[in-house]
Amino acid sequence: MKKIIIAIDGYSSSGKSTMARRLAAEIGYRYIDSGAMYRAVTLYALDHGMIDAQGQPQTDAIIAALPNIDIDFKVLPDGSQRTMLNSVDVEDEIRRLRVSEAVSPVAAIAEVRHALVAKQQALGAGKGIVMDGRDIGTVVFPDAELKIFVDASAETRAMRRFKEMMDKGADVNYEDVLANVVHRDKIDTTRAESPLRRADDAISLDNSEMTLQEQHQWLVDQYKQAAQ
Ligand code: DC
Repeated sequence: MKKIIIAIDGYSSSGKSTMARRLAAEIGYRYIDSGAMYRAVTLYALDHGMIDAQGQPQTDAIIAALPNIDIDFKVLPDGSQRTMLNSVDVEDEIRRLRVSEAVSPVAAIAEVRHALVAKQQALGAGKGIVMDGRDIGTVVFPDAELKIFVDASAETRAMRRFKEMMDKGADVNYEDVLANVVHRDKIDTTRAESPLRRADDAISLDNSEMTLQEQHQWLVDQYKQAAQ
């Protein structure tokens, strides 16, 4: 089997990260969650007063701060990964609602995207990587050997995220989570800079009615075909 790049794009909470992580573990590839990188930049901006009460980012201040924002991933002995922001483990912090609510406008800033795309391309230089996000098959790795576009209804996705947050003990209600999912879909698909869209050569997967095991098996089959 040849070493390839696997790009998995899709809407927020479509389950793409779960699929991507599990595939990478099974085939011995590195997994990169590109959304975590946008979340880490957003956390930095929030903690440095660069996002106002209405959720509007101070674009110039964030661009000026980019050289001071170092994002990395630490792999733990059990294979799980932690997102590191300037050497601090922010994995839990970046998943909170305050970051989810602020991240889309930050991810729409062209200079932020350019900086993170360059980092993502460097991470994939040696191939053998599974990366998930919104623009991996269209912008980051347009030549990826396997591109998947994952979709599911907004309600299905909101329910998944809601359960995930409840399991972590968060105090949230479903309507707020659904509103956040719909709002982010809109920003992600309508932004000027690399909006979320399916690459022409991506394979679509609607996983609304599939179990995790079914999705995994489907993805492994796609990988086997692409890497042979
Ligand atoms: O996948 P996620 O929910 O963790 O992504 C967080 C935000 O980052 C979301 O608003 C979309 C954005 N994002 C992006 O614009 N490009 C990527 N490659 C990954 C995420």
